[in-house]
Amino acid sequence: MAGPLLGARLPHVLFGGDYSPEQWPEGVWEEDVRLMREAGVNIVSLGIFSWSRIQPSPDRFDFEWLDRVIELLHENDIRLDLATATASPPPWLSHRHPAMLPVLADGVRLWPGGRQHYCPSSPFYRDAAVALVTAMANRYGRHPALAMWHAGNEYGCHVPACYCDVSAAHFRRWLRERHGTLEELNRAWGTDFWSQRYSDWEEILPPRQTPTWPNPSQQLDYRRFCSDALLECYELERRVLAELSPGIPVTTNFMRFFKPLDYWKWADREDIVSDDVYQDPADPDAAMGSAMAADLMRSLGGGRPWILMEQTPSRVNWRPVNVAKAPGQMRLWSYQAVARGADGVMFFQWRQSRAGAEKFHSAMVPHGPPETSPTWREVVRLGRELREFDGVCGSRIHSAVAILHDWESWWALELPSKPTALLSHLPQLESYYRPLFEANVVPDFARPGDDLSAYSLVLAPSLYLVGDGAAAGLARYVDAGGTLVMSFFSGIVDEFEHVRLGGYPAPFRELLGLRVEDFLPLPQGETVDLVLGDRRGRGEIWSELVTPAGAETVARFSSGGLQGQPAVTRHRFGRGTAYYLATRPDGASMASILAEACRGAGVEAVASVPAGVEAVRRQGDDGSFLFLLNHADAGVEVPVGGQRVSLGPRDVAVVRETS
Ligand code: GLA
Repeated sequence: MAGPLLGARLPHVLFGGDYSPEQWPEGVWEEDVRLMREAGVNIVSLGIFSWSRIQPSPDRFDFEWLDRVIELLHENDIRLDLATATASPPPWLSHRHPAMLPVLADGVRLWPGGRQHYCPSSPFYRDAAVALVTAMANRYGRHPALAMWHAGNEYGCHVPACYCDVSAAHFRRWLRERHGTLEELNRAWGTDFWSQRYSDWEEILPPRQTPTWPNPSQQLDYRRFCSDALLECYELERRVLAELSPGIPVTTNFMRFFKPLDYWKWADREDIVSDDVYQDPADPDAAMGSAMAADLMRSLGGGRPWILMEQTPSRVNWRPVNVAKAPGQMRLWSYQAVARGADGVMFFQWRQSRAGAEKFHSAMVPHGPPETSPTWREVVRLGRELREFDGVCGSRIHSAVAILHDWESWWALELPSKPTALLSHLPQLESYYRPLFEANVVPDFARPGDDLSAYSLVLAPSLYLVGDGAAAGLARYVDAGGTLVMSFFSGIVDEFEHVRLGGYPAPFRELLGLRVEDFLPLPQGETVDLVLGDRRGRGEIWSELVTPAGAETVARFSSGGLQGQPAVTRHRFGRGTAYYLATRPDGASMASILAEACRGAGVEAVASVPAGVEAVRRQGDDGSFLFLLNHADAGVEVPVGGQRVSLGPRDVAVVRETS
């Protein structure tokens, strides 16, 4: 067990939120800290959008107000997740250097007046950010209240890609690094298609708006580049912090399954993984979605605890209709994060803004008197309860199942001009995740090239793009006794988005014991019937003609042109088993296929509990914590270890299990 996330600096579950004292007269700060103490707040994210107050003009820094806030927090024993404050450049910067403003693929420039209006490649932005971080780290880098640094904020959230000339030049430098020669680039991008062969590096541009589909290999490289360009911005900040504020961990807040950034790469450069989670209370799948995000965050950190950096206490302001969380829902979803490995529960934001675009976004402290606010009461209750959870800090989750999730394959899969536009990555992931969530099997996420030997079962939902090494690794995994379930349209292209020839799915044919003769995607809204043993089901989105070559058929198509042909197969390969799904089975069919795979692989549920109750176990040094989360609107009795635990609607119990 690793011990608390922030060590002796803060040996408790982190509890707090984004704090923007610059939006309030100083008189309010005293009330802020009094209320923070009442709620058990032990850390705040400070200064995230304070750049224009910290540096009101190019050659003037004003730290005095921030000094006073920090001293006040310190006196009250509240730690700092101190922002580098680079997320929203001040007006003077873009006024002086308009070339730092980002440009969309169609040439439209984005103007200041919101936030995050910077081109990630802009030297003006980068230099100004480094100067600010240097000043911040010089001033506060060794402050006793400082517990961690918060670099930027939600990198790429509003501007994941810029297409300006500065970005174009940066892209060309990045391409030279990646491909070496122009000849290699021409090969990698398949430029003999549609007369796209380059004769000079200067001819190469980002995939700006074109008359029809831009080159897919170019688009894929641009996705990689854009993730890397923002990562460089983060790295520049991290380097300054490492030098001037040694030993203080650095994080930046992720956004669940955020497509533009390859979080595997990013997480490698973070001391702590943190995430922002905004479930829609009106979405019946909200709890599944946040469970899935939590499992991703834990996995990105290699199993280490992570921080729920932002969630809303009740409503957000950015959906067409901003439904409030039901009573108990905020507490329940906070515990869900802790159950799935979070050692911190934080909010956006501490005090609800009076002005600006987010004034109707709920906060821990509402516009009205806190005493009468149900949200505030729930915040205070949660803060008090989490004080009893020091023992949970550092405990781990042991998972026997891994779901493969790869950003490059996601990007490539969703490039246009595929057999069907109905196939996208997240619904594929969810079709695997949902039955596991409902059965209380807690999976990790893994990269296709990872060492998977610790897992009994590996799931590969449409791994469209795969490198040679990862493909060989999957075969070795099964050969050595692992169980793999893989979906259609896997192993189709290499890392350049070039088709792997010789029959689909070229790198997996032997492992799966079959060949795919043709893709037969289903028309929108149509399904195909399936027979799985003695049950019937439906396939969605996709079907294909499979010729077994060693695999046995465990389910067949039972309607349409593929009637009688294999829909699901199983193949013994070495000491292991590989399943193949030639369609996307409906939920119940998927549940039965995964239940069989789990049984075969010896994977068990965390606990046997009534439907609607989520059960997750965190394992500590001297015992474990069984989290029971009732997502239903009605109370329920849960039998555990000979006793019965009563849970009210949207209620939580944590059962201590000693080993
Ligand atoms: C994001 C940002 C916050 C705030 C919230 C509102 O998560 O990081 O600054 O805008 O959204 O939900």
